[in-house]
Amino acid sequence: MSAGPRPRLLVTRSVFPEVIEHLETVFDVESNPQDDLWSAEELRARAADKDALFVVTSDKVDSSLLQACPRLRLVATGSVGYNHIDLAACARKGLVVTNTPDVLTEATADMAFALLMATARRVTESERWLRQGHWQRWAWDQFLGADLHGATLGIIGMGRIGSAVARRAMGFDMKLLYANRSPASNEAALGATRMSKEDLLATADHVVLVLPYSRETHHTIGRAELALMKPTATLVNIARGGIVDDEALAEALRDGRIAAAGLDVFENEPALNPALLAVDNIVLTPHIGSATRSSRMAMAMLAARNLTEVFGGRSPLTPVALPAV
Ligand code: 8YV
Repeated sequence: MSAGPRPRLLVTRSVFPEVIEHLETVFDVESNPQDDLWSAEELRARAADKDALFVVTSDKVDSSLLQACPRLRLVATGSVGYNHIDLAACARKGLVVTNTPDVLTEATADMAFALLMATARRVTESERWLRQGHWQRWAWDQFLGADLHGATLGIIGMGRIGSAVARRAMGFDMKLLYANRSPASNEAALGATRMSKEDLLATADHVVLVLPYSRETHHTIGRAELALMKPTATLVNIARGGIVDDEALAEALRDGRIAAAGLDVFENEPALNPALLAVDNIVLTPHIGSATRSSRMAMAMLAARNLTEVFGGRSPLTPVALPAV
């Protein structure tokens, strides 16, 4: 019996060789070893004859792409977030969509803490100053920051990553507040108090954003919300660009309405709002929340295993629930 033609897979971004090797056990793989950035048109052209796509968050999987791909059965994203994928359009086409939850939770929570500490303790701001040759003498009031230990941390979005941030905060003796659509099942274990976003912003010394991006969460933090925060407060966004109004945040930082911010994600990234670059009291990182060797490898391998499981006739390991159509 002939095995029939192998399914065709497009891998949009350069990925670890072990992952490509695993994929090649099942697929004819078209990959992108030079890691070129494809326009939407080029992505459409390359995807058109494929049975499956392995994408990342910068690839927009919308109905115009899906319409160009009559054979497509599966979209696997190498990310936990899937706001770059039009789930309703995928559901209408009967596709399977998979993501990579859990394997990046701890690394991303570590990054939230890295940004919290760097922001509250002015690590990158003072390093920049030192590198510029300004350090002539020690002084009592040099780069005074805010305490993390014993302070009140507000977490907006108490899912897997939010809970992992909360667990870390317990080790810093922080008081925990959170805002979430529903009560967290581990609320008592974390000693966390649920409240409205507004009350949290007015009370917390440090605020971390860990919620998925959607039309509803667009500009969760805008001018009105920044105005509620303490002037000594810090804000960290490790979730998605667009959850914060970057222009309003830059203004608040410039005018000293909040003390500092740490951002790993941006509206329109990798393009940055120049107003953010013009303020000193900000820590900026290029969307590296999940970027540890083990976490990125686990994410890529989970995406790859979702692909090989489904095309091996089995169930996806981590499917995204699609809306009913
Ligand atoms: C990804 C992320 O590494 O998983 C997510 O949702 O934002 C990151 O961890 C990045 O977006 C590449 O897809």
